[in-house]
Amino acid sequence: MHSRWPRLDGLAYGGDYNPEQWPEEVWTEDVALMREAGVTLVSVGVFSWGMLEPRPGEYEFGWLDRVLGLLHDAGIAVDLGTPTVAAPPWFLLHHPQARPVTREGLPYGNGTRQVHCPSSPAYAAASSAITRELALRYGGHPAVVMWHVNNEYGAPLGECYCETSAAAFRDWLRARYGDVATLNDRWGAAFWSQRYGHWDEIEPPRTSGTVVNPALRLDYARFSNDALLDCFIRERDILHELAPGIPVTTNFMATNCKSVDYWRWAPEVDVISNDNYLVAERSDNYLELAMSADMTRSLAGGGPWLLMEHSTSAVSWQPRNIAKRPGEMRRNSLAHVARGADGALFFQWRASRYGAEKHHSAMLPQGGTDTRIWREVVGLGAELAGLSALAGTVVESDIAILWDWESWWAQELEWRPSAALGYLDRIRAWYEASWRAGLTADFASPGADLSRYRLVIAPSLYLTTEAAAANLGAYVAGGGTLLAGCFSGIVDAWDRVHPGPYPGALRDVLGVTVEEWLPLREGERVTLTWEESAPAAVSGATVWTEAVKLAGGKPVAWYADGPAAGGPAVTRNDLGEGQAWYVSAATDQPATAALLAAVCEAAGVSAPARPAAGAAWPRDLEITRRAGPAGRFVTLINHGSDTAEILLGGRLVSVPSGEVRVIEGDTA
Ligand code: GLA
Repeated sequence: MHSRWPRLDGLAYGGDYNPEQWPEEVWTEDVALMREAGVTLVSVGVFSWGMLEPRPGEYEFGWLDRVLGLLHDAGIAVDLGTPTVAAPPWFLLHHPQARPVTREGLPYGNGTRQVHCPSSPAYAAASSAITRELALRYGGHPAVVMWHVNNEYGAPLGECYCETSAAAFRDWLRARYGDVATLNDRWGAAFWSQRYGHWDEIEPPRTSGTVVNPALRLDYARFSNDALLDCFIRERDILHELAPGIPVTTNFMATNCKSVDYWRWAPEVDVISNDNYLVAERSDNYLELAMSADMTRSLAGGGPWLLMEHSTSAVSWQPRNIAKRPGEMRRNSLAHVARGADGALFFQWRASRYGAEKHHSAMLPQGGTDTRIWREVVGLGAELAGLSALAGTVVESDIAILWDWESWWAQELEWRPSAALGYLDRIRAWYEASWRAGLTADFASPGADLSRYRLVIAPSLYLTTEAAAANLGAYVAGGGTLLAGCFSGIVDAWDRVHPGPYPGALRDVLGVTVEEWLPLREGERVTLTWEESAPAAVSGATVWTEAVKLAGGKPVAWYADGPAAGGPAVTRNDLGEGQAWYVSAATDQPATAALLAAVCEAAGVSAPARPAAGAAWPRDLEITRRAGPAGRFVTLINHGSDTAEILLGGRLVSVPSGEVRVIEGDTA
């Protein structure tokens, strides 16, 4: 039986270690410095296929034997990579038909990583062979505590449009629909004369003169996700079989990878791990970090997970690679831990001297140990060792936010009412409001059991299946509070409009109909008010409004101006034991915050701490709780420029600007 968590004590600390880029004499120094920094876990071999199998079927494991031996002697555990994300140059020479093709029909160039078609039988054979060799050789190695399969599936290659993929897609469709008549029905093939008579007539949705059938595009996105997932499962099964007892991970990019439906992946992975890189330009990028961490924890079902990669300072692939300021790396790492990570790892241990990532920060920078980054790395290692009691504790969450990859795919296809209404924008707006209110959000899929949440927010659910709608209806009827955002409930799994007035699948739950969508012009802004005729502003909305009619629901806020002026903007429907709110506009941050406060009050949801007497809640203060048999821990991280003060369990706690406090005890 395979284990679901690696043999590790406390919180893991370390990073990607690429010793193959360095002469052997450097390895001894590496390991000594790792010990100085408190490193406990490194990912080895993620990109070393060419060094391990220099010619097809000829293996050179001696160097890896020595690396693992050195690490083990130093008490450092290894997360051993299957190097299958970067095939050696011989692979495409021997298997030209495995070269992936873009949607535009361009073959990918080589000389980089991830240049293989996920559906290629040759890739399946070659990647299985190297995985098998590694499992046989290192499955019993005492340093190896986990397998790191491949790397960031889906990025940069999420979809391949070659002929091999086309054939695999047709097989996938046959398995899904059984006969072409069913496919024609689901795909709405009567439109633009797309009725298929035979499977062989079906092509991938390659770039064309105009818009390609959205149902075909959606199914291709599903197929492409499955093709990648099959690659992972193939390697995982080899590892489980030949190296039982060692858990398997693959590093996700939780909220940052559109092409991979992680709800489908999570149950297949033993250890959920995530890579997170800040958008350096943004000064509020800690919100995005928190969102990614919360999603990762949710994929792990609330249990522990690992931060597999983040950066000590600048990355090298953004337009402007802004260096982290002193203390920022620490805040970032501890924020992940506060949100459930049982370890913080980096890309990478030692900065590369050559290759595409030589200007990327590392734990050990080009400048060596007499550097700010190194000193902070050593400090963080010691601090994490001191926080080992947090390992195994569980994050306490307050609300759930619904997230659905299929809805994301569908909403952002061509020819929509407004291209300005982005899937992530609405999620971010509601996530930010809840973060700034001191609440911790889990993410959930629309079909999940939501019964333990008092409040569920569905910011953006354009694609809502009947099953999801029934699930949400049952959740509300059972006493839950649902808040649904604009342009939700519109289409089914094939992008077909649900019959009858909008919001289709959610009409009965929300108690409203929407006669027309009224998207706004660029820069246009409308005002929302709490009373029909009074000017008490909730604040504004941009991008999107709707002509809402009540169908059982009651108005909560109105449009004061704009194309929907005089009509309800926000509604509330009492259903069974619960309530369903509908927010028909793309509300701005003040309006989103005000509406969140109102719905939280109605649902009986509150933050775990209160503002200091006479003060407002500090909007840049991050607050989270982890609890378990080892105790209860509140983490406070002040991202603002002023000291933050709050009342925690009746006690005044202050956190200076840029500081982190982990408070133990039953405080809240
Ligand atoms: C990704 C990859 C790493 C590295 C980093 C750089 O997360 O997994 O191999 O390229 O980005 O930020």
